Amino acid sequence: MLDSNGLVKQLCDQGWFYQQNVLDPALISGLADLCHSRTFLQAGIGRGVKNIINESIRSDSISWIEKSETDPAISRYLTLVEQTRQLLNREFFLGLQDFEGHFSRYPAGAYYKPHYDCFANDKRRAVTFIVYINQNWHPQDGGELCLHLPEGERLIQPVAGSVLCFLSEQILHEVKPTRKERMALTGWFIRNGGQDYYYS
Ligand code: OGA
Ligand code: MN
Repeated sequence: MLDSNGLVKQLCDQGWFYQQNVLDPALISGLADLCHSRTFLQAGIGRGVKNIINESIRSDSISWIEKSETDPAISRYLTLVEQTRQLLNREFFLGLQDFEGHFSRYPAGAYYKPHYDCFANDKRRAVTFIVYINQNWHPQDGGELCLHLPEGERLIQPVAGSVLCFLSEQILHEVKPTRKERMALTGWFIRNGGQDYYYS
């Protein structure tokens, strides 16, 4: 279960939150099986016409999640997402109206260089929400999510069932090169569907 009190307190105090064993084993294997059966596209960087593929920056592939998907594992994931959205709105008055998310797959050798999750031309992403689904993950497998914090680097293991949540605009982060296939569901709570946060 998601530790809602911990999430609220740590997001507030430090801008990020990590918890292991949020998902139960059945949900983890449901999502992992699904991940293996989906069609993936090479991920790009930037938004809209500025979306370009640059393998020197990121070398993962993604598969967007549609809200209309009916797979039971996806439904459970989307329920967790919706509960978290409501919690964040209740506690922080963020006015998070929407969510967008995708599966990501990093083959052995893949990485994502340091970046922020907000685009220069689109500031709507407020909170990043990542769920890891890597069963039998070991520290020697690499692929850590590295948070670049004022006090130094903090390495997060992408172990199955864990959740990482952080403020999209504030936290610089990267995915270290992975030594075996690494899978996650990465998504963003979005504030305001309107144009207020677009810059050209
Ligand atoms: C991203 C990202 C981190 C991860 O997709 O923007 O930073 O751990 N992913 O998969
Ligand atoms: Mn990111």
